Amino acid sequence: MRIPTMSDVDLKGKRVLIREDFNVPLKNGEITSDLRIQAAINTIKQALKADAKVMLMSHLGRPTEGVYDEAFSLAPVARHLSKLLKREVPLIQHWIDGFNMGDAQIVLLENVRFHHGETENNVELSKKMAALCDVFVMDAFATSHRMESSTYGITKYAKQACAGPLLMSELEALSKIMEKPTHPVVAIVGGSKVSTKLALLDSLAKKVDYLIIGGGIANTFLAAEGYTVGKSLYEADLIDEAERITLEAKKRNAEIPLPIDVVVAHRLAEGEESYVRLVSQIDDDEKIFDMGPDTIKNITAIIKKAKTILWNGPIGAFEVKEFSHGTQAIAEAIAENTKAFKVAGGGDTLAAIEKYRVASKIDYISTGGGAFLTLLEGKKLPVVEALEECIKKNEKVA
Ligand code: 3PG
Repeated sequence: MRIPTMSDVDLKGKRVLIREDFNVPLKNGEITSDLRIQAAINTIKQALKADAKVMLMSHLGRPTEGVYDEAFSLAPVARHLSKLLKREVPLIQHWIDGFNMGDAQIVLLENVRFHHGETENNVELSKKMAALCDVFVMDAFATSHRMESSTYGITKYAKQACAGPLLMSELEALSKIMEKPTHPVVAIVGGSKVSTKLALLDSLAKKVDYLIIGGGIANTFLAAEGYTVGKSLYEADLIDEAERITLEAKKRNAEIPLPIDVVVAHRLAEGEESYVRLVSQIDDDEKIFDMGPDTIKNITAIIKKAKTILWNGPIGAFEVKEFSHGTQAIAEAIAENTKAFKVAGGGDTLAAIEKYRVASKIDYISTGGGAFLTLLEGKKLPVVEALEECIKKNEKVA
């Protein structure tokens, strides 16, 4: 089914409310990565150029609803937006019952999660938000897996509702990977727990040619093969699931190449003595923190021959120098492959991409965490389904 998009709607002179995801990392009140704000700029500029009165709405963190808390204020985002757009973007504190934009062509509304009922998708709240605008633009891909008043409920009550350009480009990039990818398809999934990525591994094992796993996830798969992983993080209760996923992949002649050697240490710390071990020779008191050199050689060779690459999650404890070689080698192998369509996403993945400066070599870097995983798990995003329902309503207004 088709989704109405911002380019289908005439924005001239209209009050346009854009749901953004400005849920950015902050340290001492400073934004440490502005990827999500940068990704929103194109949409904002298009709305301004179309002569709309623009209201930006977002959440930040998970504050207690109904209580203002400066730690979760969007003030740093308002300042950063003003810099990027080279114009003042005032932050509106009290907006839910209506407010006067005056001469301003653009404003940022204070954290939507300060309002009672937002995360429960409260109907009255959705209606109040809808009443603020003529057109609602949903562009917060990274929050599109949440059924909240400002992402989901509002689409039902707004006069017109549509998807913004960022949401559309995220959906297009991910559907290219999921629907008709060019083979061989290689997915790299890192992270500490199988439990948080079970649905993803399941979905990918049915689609890709190679599923490269790392981190605690690989440890659980090693344990399923009968290896002793010492004191490494692994999930004994998910060994059956690991076996099932391995079997699933085997049935389709897909491979889940497990590490043959690993880097172990007693503690995760800079300067800690570390050793390369065959996976059959890990001592009882050792912990796996990275892939070993022979494993790295194998998996980078697989990455280099891929035609489609999906990367989610670092494959070792890359924040510590001693255990960063695997993730660095993967980042560089992805960068060197110039023939593949390459997509990456997920918080830690973005940190690795920044650290190894390979962003320009990746075709699409998603702003989504949970939303990115939801799509890759083969599920539909509730917000997208809600927008599909808006086609008829929009036609009536037009
Ligand atoms: C995210 O960072 O994944 C999104 O902004 C959603 O945030 P949430 O998990 O607090 O809903």
